[in-house]
Amino acid sequence: MRGRHTQMNMFVRLRPISILAAAAMVVVISTAVTVYACQARSDLHPVILVPGSGGNQLEARLTKEYKPSSLWCRLWSQPSWSRLWFNPLVLVEPFTKCFAERMTLYYHPEIDDYRNAPGVETRAPHFGSTESLLCLDPLIKDATAYMEALVTTLHTLGYTEGDTLFGAPYDFRYGLAPQGHPSLTSTQFLHNLKTLIEHASHSNNDKPVIILTHSLGSLFALHLLNRNTPSWRNRYVKHLITLSAPWAGTVQQMLTFASGYTLGVPFVDPLVVRAEQRSSESNLWLLPNPKQFTDRVLVVAKAINMTYSAHNMSMFLRDIGYGEGVVPYERRVVPLISEGLAAPGVPVSCVFGSGVRTAERLVYGGGGFDGGPEEVVYGDGDGTVNMVSLVALEREWEWEGGQSLKMIRVPGVSHTGILKDGGALEVIVREISEINSNFSLASHYHSQLSTD
Ligand SMILES: *[C@@H]1O[C@H](CO)[C@@H](O)[C@H](O)[C@H]1NC(C)=O
Ligand SMILES: *[C@@H]1O[C@H](CO)[C@@H](O)[C@H](O)[C@H]1NC(C)=O
Repeated sequence: MRGRHTQMNMFVRLRPISILAAAAMVVVISTAVTVYACQARSDLHPVILVPGSGGNQLEARLTKEYKPSSLWCRLWSQPSWSRLWFNPLVLVEPFTKCFAERMTLYYHPEIDDYRNAPGVETRAPHFGSTESLLCLDPLIKDATAYMEALVTTLHTLGYTEGDTLFGAPYDFRYGLAPQGHPSLTSTQFLHNLKTLIEHASHSNNDKPVIILTHSLGSLFALHLLNRNTPSWRNRYVKHLITLSAPWAGTVQQMLTFASGYTLGVPFVDPLVVRAEQRSSESNLWLLPNPKQFTDRVLVVAKAINMTYSAHNMSMFLRDIGYGEGVVPYERRVVPLISEGLAAPGVPVSCVFGSGVRTAERLVYGGGGFDGGPEEVVYGDGDGTVNMVSLVALEREWEWEGGQSLKMIRVPGVSHTGILKDGGALEVIVREISEINSNFSLASHYHSQLSTD
């Protein structure tokens, strides 16, 4: 099972790192040191890491308004901030339900925005630092490692925490809203991210930053750029590097909405977590975009003799029994994804895996949606994101003369494997070094001009 854009997608990492992979890492790191160690630290463009869905810790605090659905949930509650994501207790049956009810979001049509469950306050701890992105549970660090190998690799280039290296964790359950719609939580996140970018630049001799994103974080970063002026972008952002970006959503997400998804953890009932997964606004955002998926059949439902393309998403949501999703999908997601993926003007590099079998069509049999598909047709992708979505910018920006776009395919690398695979880390190191050396050369060039 590969990484997926679900709230529970970190279970994929509950796997020992093989000796071979660890050895490969050492090789990459030592190569990086020999080649790039001559880079003076003061020359570095600061790097800001933006994680994907489920890629940072979340904390919760329960107030008097919290209504536990069982005695277990009442017993498992503290009035102080404690880690909600990730906590291994959620793998144990009565607590899975408590976890799900605390992670569930609610759409309020009257304010046209999402909010937490009553009595549940949440926050993404350590904003500005990479601390909550390294692993999801410090008590089981290795099993829940997320960006640790990537951060270690950046250290070998001379990047240092809080100085040239920063992290931007966020509440990944929330999505962005289109222009003219409120989005309390994510608007605050974009504001904080903008402030962090400015701070990182100001504290590094005004050098513009490199934004390095994984998965969903890439969509937030692109929207941040496009929601600020060209002069702001050029002043503060040197380059955007995206890893495994699901630009046009994934078919995998339809599986999550229809049947729930536990990443192969046998004793978690997918239907217990399905309601919570459906409630996540960012999951709704990552349903396949009709512009790129066009009218290809993504889901077949034999029991009701129906087929669904990305154009039939509202009907799909209704037919799987999630009619509540239709209003927010049509009001917020459709206009957001039709705003398109505008070219931001700053250079973009997309790094993505390929050649990993990825769900492309789900065939449901006579049993309906609850029991999962009777057949999955696979195609090319990174195991989670379909190829058409990974490469979407290439077609979107085909006619954008001024936009620099570099597509870098890393064969055989999965959606989350890209954060620790030796070959992928080497590609990322090369990109970052190149961006930094361009700057050095350019500034050298300019200083020569000014002395002449
Ligand atoms: C299924 O739908 C197709 C076309 O909409 C129709 O031709 C076919 O007869 C239907 N089959 C059943 C069993 O209802
Ligand atoms: C699905 O969408 C297509 C394209 O918009 C449309 O032609 C078709 O009628 C839709 N299917 C159903 C069952 O509504």
